[in-house]
Amino acid sequence: MCGIVGYIGYRDAYPIVIKGLHRLEYRGYDSAGVALIDKDIKVYKKAGKVSDLEEFAKGVNLHGTIGMGHTRWATHGAPSDRNSHPHSSGDRRLTIIHNGIIENYAVIKETLLAKGHIFLSDTDTEVLIHLVEDIQKETGLDLREAVRVALNKVVGAYAIVIMSSDDPDQLIAARKGSPLVIGVGEGEYFIASDATPIVEYTKNVIYLNDNEIAYIRRNDLLIKNIDNTVQTPYIHELDLKLEMLEKGGYDHFMLKEIYEQPRSIRDCMRGRIYPKIGKVQLGGIKEYTEKLKNVDRIIIVACGTSWHAGLVGEYLIEEYARVPVEVEYASEFRYRNPIITEKDLVIAISQSGETADTMAAIELAKEKGATIFGVCNVVGASIPRITHAGVYTHAGPEIGVASTKAFTAQVTVLTLIAFYIAQQRGTITQSKLIELLTELNEIPELVEKALGSNEHVQQIAEKFKDSRNCLFLGRGSSFPVALEGALKLKEISYIHAEGYPAAEMKHGPIALIDEEMPVVFIATKHSSYEKVISNIQEVKARKGKVIAIVTEGDTDVKAMADYVVEIPQTDEAFVPLLATIPLQLISYHIAVMRGCNVDQPRNLAKSVTVE
Ligand code: M6R
Repeated sequence: MCGIVGYIGYRDAYPIVIKGLHRLEYRGYDSAGVALIDKDIKVYKKAGKVSDLEEFAKGVNLHGTIGMGHTRWATHGAPSDRNSHPHSSGDRRLTIIHNGIIENYAVIKETLLAKGHIFLSDTDTEVLIHLVEDIQKETGLDLREAVRVALNKVVGAYAIVIMSSDDPDQLIAARKGSPLVIGVGEGEYFIASDATPIVEYTKNVIYLNDNEIAYIRRNDLLIKNIDNTVQTPYIHELDLKLEMLEKGGYDHFMLKEIYEQPRSIRDCMRGRIYPKIGKVQLGGIKEYTEKLKNVDRIIIVACGTSWHAGLVGEYLIEEYARVPVEVEYASEFRYRNPIITEKDLVIAISQSGETADTMAAIELAKEKGATIFGVCNVVGASIPRITHAGVYTHAGPEIGVASTKAFTAQVTVLTLIAFYIAQQRGTITQSKLIELLTELNEIPELVEKALGSNEHVQQIAEKFKDSRNCLFLGRGSSFPVALEGALKLKEISYIHAEGYPAAEMKHGPIALIDEEMPVVFIATKHSSYEKVISNIQEVKARKGKVIAIVTEGDTDVKAMADYVVEIPQTDEAFVPLLATIPLQLISYHIAVMRGCNVDQPRNLAKSVTVE
């Protein structure tokens, strides 16, 4: 939620900041702003996209070698020019950008109002910068100390950057609960919510930890924690290539990411599976082999698409490793009083590794003594740093807000985890593992083949682009695929869609079916095939329009469905990896045909760092 960029060095800051904001726009895109120091602080901000800000700032003085920028996803105060960041202190000396939520802002604001502060926005952020100003006025503290004192008074999550006209050779950055990366160059530093705005300038980065404050000058970086103890930062080398952040000839990032799946699934399996000898190797969790042998229960926590991947994981882990699995929405889990013991293993799944609810669920489970594994995509994000162990999905940067390649990579990792645990516990035979891994190894080619249905899917999309509702139905591990198909359609095309276990249809949703209602079935030739056929007949009997995802060569479903999309034959365990592909494509094409903003759907942001 919200992207922040900062620069201090010898180059013009504005182009760096604007380019960085474009890269971070996936985090929020309802308004944007920049602040530059050129003798004094200049602030330009505007409701709308980063491109609207650029248009607005054309022709004004954009000089300055220190600058910062913000792209917003509104929490406190509607998207508007005045609520856009940066925000300034009453005396205009101080300026701030902020990602996160100051939970006790109302109480602080009341005190400041009583002292005569005047606020120009509805945001919690403006309250924080007024608090810093107030502390300086009351105590005479220098800016560094005043920021530290202020941060000790606020409750909530933040990643902030502050600049001051009193000390125009310094940026102050701090984090608690919201990510912040510092790029280390020669005589220059970069600050950003993630490494994507930094990678073209330097590969050396420092991931700021919670409760750390960085005092940054052109040739000097000092990091202290909020209690004033000096920290020794660790400089990481980025493994990120610039071309990963470009559209590469595709119209949208989402389409590029859909087409990247053969590669991303292959990368996710690389060095981890040995089909010939029937072995799975997961370096990130190997220290926990004993734990896995004796684990009584696994709890998966996640949100959104990652939660759907967790549901697929439940089927696979229970089927092969024979360990009971519970899949929980992180947001519900954290506010219950869940029964968790030291014997439990919690697997937290998150593409971004920054989702606030998932992080809180991890902290809760940790307090209760559980072992926590992370399944994350963004290397160095917060979740991999607070979990005991984990497995990266290695899907590469996912920029489209709608998750596609991250989902299939998560499912792939969970498949590997299921086989790994099964191997440790002896619940799978060597020959079965050889057979499954041999087939899994072929999945990237089969995904490639499934992508071949694109044009056909586009024609189907044309027929249903004006639908107002849609049902997605599947059984077994195709039920979470149905949920994921429905989520994709709602989030990018704004068509109301529901995913259901196919058998549940009779318990309510069947009432919705009429000749207007498209019903997407995942009807592959596996264990529930006959049952799903009965469900299709029930829909057809009520004149619903059936679009079925079927196994290549199927004739039975073809005879009764209105439209079919074939996917290659595979073992039931791997159907989610293939059946997801046409569902992603259908949502993509419908959204494009409806003129929707595919990569940046309304009201959404890629990483939800607020609860
Ligand atoms: O980064 P995470 O995987 O933790 O994010 C969880 C959800 O916010 C995310 O999957 C969301 O549902 C996507 N927009 C789905 O496409």
